[in-house]
Amino acid sequence: MKTVLIANPKGGAGKTTLSTNLAGYFASQGEDVWLWDLDKQKSALHWLSLRPDWLPPIQRLDARNKTEGKDGWLVLDTPAGIAGEPLDEALKRAHKIIVPLVPSPYDIEATRRFLEEILKHKALKKGAVDLAIIGMRVDARTKAAERLDEFLEPIDLPVLTHLRETMNYVNAAFEGKSIFDVAPSSVERDLEQWQPIIDWVER
Ligand SMILES: Nc1ncnc2c1ncn2[C@@H]1O[C@H](COP(=O)(O)OP(=O)(O)OP(=O)(O)O)[C@@H](O)[C@H]1O
Ligand SMILES: [Mg+2]
Repeated sequence: MKTVLIANPKGGAGKTTLSTNLAGYFASQGEDVWLWDLDKQKSALHWLSLRPDWLPPIQRLDARNKTEGKDGWLVLDTPAGIAGEPLDEALKRAHKIIVPLVPSPYDIEATRRFLEEILKHKALKKGAVDLAIIGMRVDARTKAAERLDEFLEPIDLPVLTHLRETMNYVNAAFEGKSIFDVAPSSVERDLEQWQPIIDWVER
């Protein structure tokens, strides 16, 4: 099972939005996909419970399930403040890690510390795990976006894309959908912004 871990210790960074949309993408491609929600708030599972039966399926996974012998993709959504053993366990499972980052001083500072911490982890040191960053809710015309770029520029990690702020994600989520489950013409720009994420994950 190829596991994509979505993590950022800051609340509201966009982890669940990213997780559910990535799971939705794999499903739309006819891939076997599981979603594991490590957050007590269970937002990703709530989203999954809203998902209409007629859409390509996403299966739920948790600690009770065995992953051995399963083929396909596992998307792991994690809670804010993840640290210590739960973080270690999640990192051990991961083949790829995506860190969504909102352009704000608090998010940038928390993310700086988080990246420092996870880069010390064995698997990441060995280069066995790919790590990338995504700018979340970024408006390119703003000072905040500039400051985000300044933070990211010297960091030796791929920045896959910036996702804009749009109700497209919110409206889709109300129906248990991802942007890959709605009319492509209504989310054209968002699909474009997602392409580098897809290329990197599938690489
Ligand atoms: N690109 C976007 N455009 C508009 N709204 C967004 C976008 N990304 C996320 N949101 C909204 O921002 C809020 C926080 O996003 P989300 O729940 O995905 O973050 P999170 O990191 O999972 O939060 P938590 O740490 O609480 O689990 C949600 O209301 C979500 O719908
Ligand atoms: Mg969440």
